[in-house]
Amino acid sequence: MAKILNFGSLNLDQVYRVDAFVQPGETKSSLSLETHCGGKGLNQSVAAARAGAEVWHAGLIGCDGEMLCDKLRENGVNLALLERSDGVSGHAIIQVDNSGQNCILLFGGTNQALTEAYVDRVLEAFGSEGVVLVQNETNLVGYIMRRAHEIGLQVAINAAPMNETVFSYPLDLVDWLVVNEIEGAAIAKCAQEAQILPTLQLKYPKMNVLMTLGKRGAICARGGESAKSGIYHVKVVDTTAAGDTFLGYFLNEALDGKRLEEALRLATAASSLCVQTKGAADSVPLRKDALFALESGALGSLGEWGGWR
Ligand code: RIB
Repeated sequence: MAKILNFGSLNLDQVYRVDAFVQPGETKSSLSLETHCGGKGLNQSVAAARAGAEVWHAGLIGCDGEMLCDKLRENGVNLALLERSDGVSGHAIIQVDNSGQNCILLFGGTNQALTEAYVDRVLEAFGSEGVVLVQNETNLVGYIMRRAHEIGLQVAINAAPMNETVFSYPLDLVDWLVVNEIEGAAIAKCAQEAQILPTLQLKYPKMNVLMTLGKRGAICARGGESAKSGIYHVKVVDTTAAGDTFLGYFLNEALDGKRLEEALRLATAASSLCVQTKGAADSVPLRKDALFALESGALGSLGEWGGWR
């Protein structure tokens, strides 16, 4: 069973349904407002746990964060290493339009208040077996990666949201990099998509890469092997957490020694179910539902991989 320590962001997602995104200088009314549990970190913990991994979530919540803990707990995520801090939890203002696409504004809150002492405490308690997972929504990402590597843990990073700080991280220590094509191109410093994976693997020989390509599917490379997948064409209600679902499922399968094709297939099925439901963590499907969708053919046939741009 995959064992994952996720030093992950936790957000209260304020989700506004709109007919079209607000434009610069415009004021408009939303159609509805809902609060959901989210944050790339929390969503990925829920996804990996629902996929079957043993997940420990480390991170900080503020005075308003109990519902975030409840969500993780009800999904079987171990919270022994999560702590409470002064201030408010991270939150996200999310607009979701009629086509199910979103745009997201983040406020870091306690996600940005990790201390080195806390990181050290967590790593010491967790031990040296398993994988540390980070996203780019907390502070001290580079420090976590270095310390985790020093004690013998594998390192997985979802370099999202992409910004300049990613270049300061010790990417040579990464075992699993998860990116979309824009993040991948920025990290590889590569204009041609087809060159992103070979460039990364040349520069960082031990790095395995999963790159998602939106409607074109996904591609991954582990050591000398690689695999690609298209998508299922389903009705999209809300894409929030689709990438997190893909990551959680894929990582669990890959760490569990599954073939890359199999890992991609299950992750694709899981994220296809995710986009058909509103919300973030709540839209991550259970493993049994993802497997049933695959086996019953309920998602239709898997499309061809969409190729490079
Ligand atoms: O990946 C989706 C997540 O990004 C949302 O839940 C939001 O909180 C932001 O972190």
